[in-house]
Amino acid sequence: MTDHPTPTGPSRRGLLTGAAVAGAAVAAGGLALRPTPARAQGNLPADRRMLGGLETSALGLGVQNMHRTFTTLVPDRDDMVALIRTAYEEGITFFDCAEVYGPYTCEEILGEAIAPFRDAVQITTKFGFDIGDDGGIAGVTSDPAGIRAAVEGSLRRLGTDRVDLLYQHRVDPTVPIEEVAGVVGELMDEGKALHWGLSECGPETLRRAHAERPLAAVQSEYSMLYRGREADILPVTRELGVGFVPFAPLGYGFLTGAIDMATAFAPGDFRGWTSRMDLENREANMALVDLARDWAARKDAEPEQIALAWLMAQGPDIVPIPGTTNVTHLRDNIDAASVSFTDAELADLTSALDAIEVQGERAPAMVMEWNGAEAPDA
Ligand SMILES: NC(=O)c1ccc[n+]([C@@H]2O[C@H](COP(=O)([O-])OP(=O)(O)OC[C@H]3O[C@@H](n4cnc5c(N)ncnc54)[C@H](OP(=O)(O)O)[C@@H]3O)[C@@H](O)[C@H]2O)c1
Repeated sequence: MTDHPTPTGPSRRGLLTGAAVAGAAVAAGGLALRPTPARAQGNLPADRRMLGGLETSALGLGVQNMHRTFTTLVPDRDDMVALIRTAYEEGITFFDCAEVYGPYTCEEILGEAIAPFRDAVQITTKFGFDIGDDGGIAGVTSDPAGIRAAVEGSLRRLGTDRVDLLYQHRVDPTVPIEEVAGVVGELMDEGKALHWGLSECGPETLRRAHAERPLAAVQSEYSMLYRGREADILPVTRELGVGFVPFAPLGYGFLTGAIDMATAFAPGDFRGWTSRMDLENREANMALVDLARDWAARKDAEPEQIALAWLMAQGPDIVPIPGTTNVTHLRDNIDAASVSFTDAELADLTSALDAIEVQGERAPAMVMEWNGAEAPDA
């Protein structure tokens, strides 16, 4: 179950160098490194960013598809463990997970993969969906006792004693965010969560949560395909000094150019349920892919690298988490860090994006109800 109910040369690579060195050390001798102390955003090397008080690699890796891709294919588990380790060796230290990914399986895969270098990476997980015995999602829940049980289960599956960044996956419209902050605060006091964040929250809930217990990050959909949070959440995270983690930064693969008018989504593939992928809307939205391709030609890059580089250029508080099950794609995404824009280029690209009106909704109505929700009054 998912929470959406699913080449360039070596000169570009090696930019994410800090962890590459650590990765080589781990490969050589099983060395476990302690996390570096928090630094100010301005003092960081180009390959590192701060999410609130949490230092991460400038690009993360989403592991949601590692149990089953959008198209219902089941990737080989050993390959996924190897892919996560390759990501680490090439400089990625920020890995995004959730109990609902699988459910549960992705936490096990991630835990196994990072075991040799646990202390040198930052892992996230999320609570907040009501997962039935059959693995289906019955709704959202942030019942305080349930949060504690969920986190204990996540820690067990991840094989660790703490989560670096613990998110509420969706706001529970029946539980005041102050109560959620209370339980998460206890888990933080116990050292089981080092930082916390919210995913797809409304702006008032973000403010109230941060006032109770400062947040490190908000995670929400953000990409050249979906820019809704520029209006309501990003101004607030910036005012509060909270980081922003764009999920689906490649538009669920659309911005890579891998989806065209002939693509038929497999049954169960979430993308086939979204109206923005209806044939009529898709045709209109292909203008985004054309734009990414034009800029890729201009910058000697790939469309997916333009999509990631544009997001990273939005500010040092942004850490995208593209998902991949393919090691060539992983390296391609890492290489996006070396694509940069001058101020004039960024303004040009952004105004070309502004001119494209994306057609259709990003999720079915049932899922949209959970997005941007506000918690009830305390
Ligand atoms: N908080 C939330 O509610 C929420 C919701 C959705 C996602 N997320 C998080 O965000 C992460 C990323 O989202 P996502 O994976 O759904 O969407 P995404 O990163 O926008 O796109 C992933 C898709 O793009 C393909 N892809 C990746 N790199 C590529 C490349 N270089 N060239 C061609 N195709 C490429 C992947 O296929 P291959 O596997 O073949 O590379 C996959 O089909 C998830 O893993 C999860 O951690 C969070």
